[in-house]
Amino acid sequence: MDENSNGSHIPKTKKPKITLITPSQIQAEFAHHDASVARINNGSFGSCPASILAAQRRSQLAFLRHPDHFYFNQLSPAILRSRTLIQRLVNAHHLDEISIVDNATTAASIVLQHAAWSFREGRFRQGDAVLMLHYAYGAVKKSMEAYVARAGGYVVEVPLPFPVNSNEEIISEFRKALERGKSNGKRVRLAVIDHVTSMPCVVIPVKELIQICREEGVDQVFVDAAHSIGCTDVDMQEIGADFYTSNLHKWFFCPPSIAFLYARRNPKGSAFDLHHPVVSHEYGNGLAVESAWIGTRDYSAQLVVPEAVEFVNRFEGGIEGIKKRNHEGVVEMGEMLAKAWGTHLGCPPHMCCSMVMVGMPASLGIESDSDALKLRTHLRDAFGVEVPIYYRPPQEGEVGVVTGYARISYQVYNKVDDYYKFRDAVNQLVQNGFTCGELSD
Ligand SMILES: Cc1ncc(COP(=O)(O)O)c(C=O)c1O
Repeated sequence: MDENSNGSHIPKTKKPKITLITPSQIQAEFAHHDASVARINNGSFGSCPASILAAQRRSQLAFLRHPDHFYFNQLSPAILRSRTLIQRLVNAHHLDEISIVDNATTAASIVLQHAAWSFREGRFRQGDAVLMLHYAYGAVKKSMEAYVARAGGYVVEVPLPFPVNSNEEIISEFRKALERGKSNGKRVRLAVIDHVTSMPCVVIPVKELIQICREEGVDQVFVDAAHSIGCTDVDMQEIGADFYTSNLHKWFFCPPSIAFLYARRNPKGSAFDLHHPVVSHEYGNGLAVESAWIGTRDYSAQLVVPEAVEFVNRFEGGIEGIKKRNHEGVVEMGEMLAKAWGTHLGCPPHMCCSMVMVGMPASLGIESDSDALKLRTHLRDAFGVEVPIYYRPPQEGEVGVVTGYARISYQVYNKVDDYYKFRDAVNQLVQNGFTCGELSD
């Protein structure tokens, strides 16, 4: 054993040399993307490189070659390996705090079903409040309706300003909603907070909001962070939520579909009594074990986390480097578009991640959600641009304001030309005097 330069007796280990991925290798990894489309919407469905798809295929074939051997000898250690890597990535204290599920939608069902049982079994009183953001994801709102409201919870929505200029604007609305939830002597039992809202897209100051929840006696906090891993900072011990979910198929290069659901062990070491909505043989053995077998199906997306970690480590700075460059790229492209169209971003750069909202020219006449969707379809069909569009109704007294915002994403495969294509398509529409009224249903 050598003595190191710092005088310690830790054995010197040679770090394996990693060769950084080259631009042409990145292109090859995403060569299956439709080259005719400027794909600036990584946020909706993510992306998966060829090397990880190949690993997934190997795993599928291993199952098909000898299913019984795969089931009895390979599946559970492989899921355990993925859970262990996720635990490290998100800095969870215990391995059993991490379960792997299909997606954030499933994770939300698990948490909200748990809340429903708490209402039904009397741990929560009828009429006690459950808080969520007005911009909560549509499927999660439905889950709230299906589980919580139906079981007797009073759902309070936190209205959020958009465009938004500071975290304080969000924090102030959140405090007001908490007061509403607590009126008439009711308790706020659960707060559902997005980490990165979907539409419009803004990074929410979750740590601060959770701190407020703790001070105000909210029983539980669930963070819906469908976009977060690979896109914003994810540290379970720092964030301090009771439940937290993120997909790995959006910004962590896994194939569809895989998400983790973190459920904090309480200080006494016991776990929440969470259950997978699909009940199988492992019912009652803890959520992580229940989720690892929910009947015969394709588990391969859950087994390629090691390859996804290897993939991100081929980039300078690993996932942190990717995240930083994507953020810088999306802000630069967002500002370029806003300048070209005479509009603005939907939030300051420090409130966005690898996605940002960009105001679209008011002359496009986006007057409803339906107009926003039709314009998105038109951009796809006529210009080969894939980008979601948000309709923001004018507030009282506002005339000629921006009513449509595009949510642009930036991922490692994107090129400046993708955004120029979008810019030029919109400029052409404006020059032609186009309005959304021209588009048929
Ligand atoms: C905030 C939020 N929650 C939940 C989801 C659902 O994710 P999935 O479709 O992977 O379940 C999304 C998807 O975009 C989302 O943005």
